[in-house]
Amino acid sequence: MTVLVAGASRGIGFEFARQYRADGRRVVATARDEEGLRKLQALGCETLPLDVTDAASVAGLGWRTDGEQFEVAIVNAGVYGPRTDGLQPPSQDDFDLVMRTNVLGPMRVLAALQESLPRGARVIVLSSAMGSIGQRAGASGWLYRASKAAANSVLKDASMVLGSRGVSCIAVHPGWVQTDMGGAGATLPPERSVADLRRLIANLTPEDNGRFYSHDGSTIPW
Ligand SMILES: NC(=O)c1ccc[n+]([C@@H]2O[C@H](COP(=O)([O-])OP(=O)(O)OC[C@H]3O[C@@H](n4cnc5c(N)ncnc54)[C@H](OP(=O)(O)O)[C@@H]3O)[C@@H](O)[C@H]2O)c1
Repeated sequence: MTVLVAGASRGIGFEFARQYRADGRRVVATARDEEGLRKLQALGCETLPLDVTDAASVAGLGWRTDGEQFEVAIVNAGVYGPRTDGLQPPSQDDFDLVMRTNVLGPMRVLAALQESLPRGARVIVLSSAMGSIGQRAGASGWLYRASKAAANSVLKDASMVLGSRGVSCIAVHPGWVQTDMGGAGATLPPERSVADLRRLIANLTPEDNGRFYSHDGSTIPW
């Protein structure tokens, strides 16, 4: 089985690469810089450079993975942006960075990978419960929330196109995870979140296509 992890230099993406390698899987993992690529090579991953905000870089992912067949493709790269509590409008630069990374990024990566996803493949987009409109209980980080709600729409459309070819596409919430983004006060170590997510991925069936799951297997409303 070959696993692709897009955005694997640290945090949840790195942990996916580490655990799948420890499980003996072939892992193709991406990072933006040399340091990230070297860390992944030390795990035994095959590595590719990728910046999801750069169209040429994603085009490079497409041609470098031409002929690959990924059983699992994880679109993990993400940024949080400004840590707001109220209705502070984001700067144009913050808006562009968060939306280009969290929304345009998955659109480009999913398009680039579509010929490398065989029947039975699983596509995982790292979303967040913060992107759910149906269970919203606060407005902190509203730019991040908007970006993950939009990423959910992207995942849903991918599930429409790829589901008809026997590929299962899901959005996942990894929990509140102790990473640079989640912070030290988060409730879950990355090891636990990723172990849960790998179990969820392993048990996916075609009926799961187009759903939004928490790491514990519960369904999250869009
Ligand atoms: N941690 C949480 O509690 C939590 C909760 C819900 C959802 N999530 C989601 O889970 C995913 C991973 O989060 P994390 O906590 O592991 O975050 P993190 O520790 O901040 O790591 C983010 C990862 O995304 C990569 N990345 C950022 N911008 C990129 C770009 N333009 N191109 C390629 N890679 C890029 C980073 O690479 P560099 O090292 O090059 O910056 C890094 O590998 C994100 O999508 C996040 O929104 C996290």
